[in-house]
Amino acid sequence: MADDLKQAVARRRTFAIISHPDAGKTTLTEKLLLFGGAIQLAGEVKAKKDRMNTRSDWMKIERERGISVVTSVMTFEYDDHVFNLLDTPGHEDFADDTYRTLTAVDSAIMVIDAAKGIEPRTLKLFEVCRLRNIPIITFVNKMDRETRDPFEILDEIEDKLALDTAPVTWPVGRGKTFAGTYHLADNAMRTTDAQEHREIVEGPRSAKVAGLLPANERDAFTEELELAREACRPFNRQSFLEGHLTPVYFGSALRNFGVRDLIEALGEHAPQPRDQEADSRTVSSTERGMTGFVFKIQANMDPNHRDRIAFMRVCSGTLKRGMKAKLTRTGKALSLSAPQFFFARSRITADEAFAGDVVGIPNHGTLRIGDTLTDGEELLFRGVPNFAPEILRRVRLGDAMKAKKLKEALQQMAEEGVVQLFTPEDGSPAIVGVVGALQLDVLKQRLDVEYSLPVDFEVARFSICRWISADNEAELQRFINAHRADMARDLDDDPVFLAQHTFSLNYEADRWKDIRFADIKDYQ
Ligand code: G4P
Repeated sequence: MADDLKQAVARRRTFAIISHPDAGKTTLTEKLLLFGGAIQLAGEVKAKKDRMNTRSDWMKIERERGISVVTSVMTFEYDDHVFNLLDTPGHEDFADDTYRTLTAVDSAIMVIDAAKGIEPRTLKLFEVCRLRNIPIITFVNKMDRETRDPFEILDEIEDKLALDTAPVTWPVGRGKTFAGTYHLADNAMRTTDAQEHREIVEGPRSAKVAGLLPANERDAFTEELELAREACRPFNRQSFLEGHLTPVYFGSALRNFGVRDLIEALGEHAPQPRDQEADSRTVSSTERGMTGFVFKIQANMDPNHRDRIAFMRVCSGTLKRGMKAKLTRTGKALSLSAPQFFFARSRITADEAFAGDVVGIPNHGTLRIGDTLTDGEELLFRGVPNFAPEILRRVRLGDAMKAKKLKEALQQMAEEGVVQLFTPEDGSPAIVGVVGALQLDVLKQRLDVEYSLPVDFEVARFSICRWISADNEAELQRFINAHRADMARDLDDDPVFLAQHTFSLNYEADRWKDIRFADIKDYQ
């Protein structure tokens, strides 16, 4: 039994794809799913994305929840491994959702456009991964188009990300002449026309390689390959797992090339589900007791019922359908009668799930982002982040009679992570905070459609918010008393200081040395 559990955990790889828009994340996702047999036809993931391209369409999609929810997590099997690919929203206005999703993965694929190199959003997402020591596999995509020199791309990764690189494969030709990849350590070739097939060759000068390249490119290729072998680092799994080194693969997602290398690299090198820090101890992924945490909530799968799906990453043990779990925030029991697994287009009821798996738990508002579920143990996983919003607004309601309903609706939206909600200490109307402006559009639309509450937003007097804390409780209270008009409480009743601008924040921080002003808070 214990061995079965260990094996089930060892088979799992839970990962995300990070990239700048347009680098090829959607195309690669689709190809990974194709290889894993999760979808039959190319184009399905793409179809979803196309419908989400414009701002107004986003809203429609938000209502058609079914589509986005099934692609939030995609499970497929390949070579005896179970892969859980967690999707992250492409738009940067939903960055907080992406960051929270990254708390639930064990590794990531970084997709880079071979012509563009490291772009701003790749850099940002990489930094989030680094903070969490998430090992990264790099895929240099679009090798079938005009590209930069591969050495230049490797240098850029090393310089901009301060990350060692180890090219595992090397492109044979580029752009129009891109014909395959050469495995540096194994002397093995994969060609674009038969990538199922991996052929061991005698070396870069072998007839097989020569036959793939135009005569005038052959010598250059051999020299390049020799240089790559001499000058580049070999792959070192330990450095990779510690987040210091990234193995680099070249390919073309569109041409379906290099994708198999990537899946195999995930299976072979990427870590199995990790042990997870909790407040009282470290939870081993192979221990028997079931634990997990919620990192995402998706509402309105069915607009007629206010049901929500909470996405929970299982951290240990076996989650069994029908089991009673303990929600440690409230101490209450929750029956897991219909946990869900997700595939590219469908979801099924999960009978069993193990560490690394992500299950959807339907509920009517019981679960919040950051919640911990166990099979009885008093335990709290921390680390699902809450970011200080960059836009603060007061919600203006036409019909004052509906104030109570608005309060409830905002509370629900805040629990789902759509917005953050701050209740001012001076009794003035609630303030909502978001990281990106599109989130306000989603809030307005949902309040209107789901709660019949047409609202507008007013610029608040404040533009910055910080969670405050202090070792000395009396000092914290003194600060709160001295700033009543600038204080609010968040959803957990934690104190938040609202500032008009950076200047006033810095001024207060200077005067109150014992108060900490945090721009990130863990959900709890
Ligand atoms: P994203 O999710 O990261 O935003 O990128 P996506 O996969 O949508 O790809 C962005 C564009 O790049 C798409 O073209 C896609 O077809 C193209 N692309 C992706 N991978 C490759 C590749 O390996 N080689 C080449 N040549 N192109 C690639 P588009 O013009 O925006 O869409 P479409 O009209 O082709 O559907």
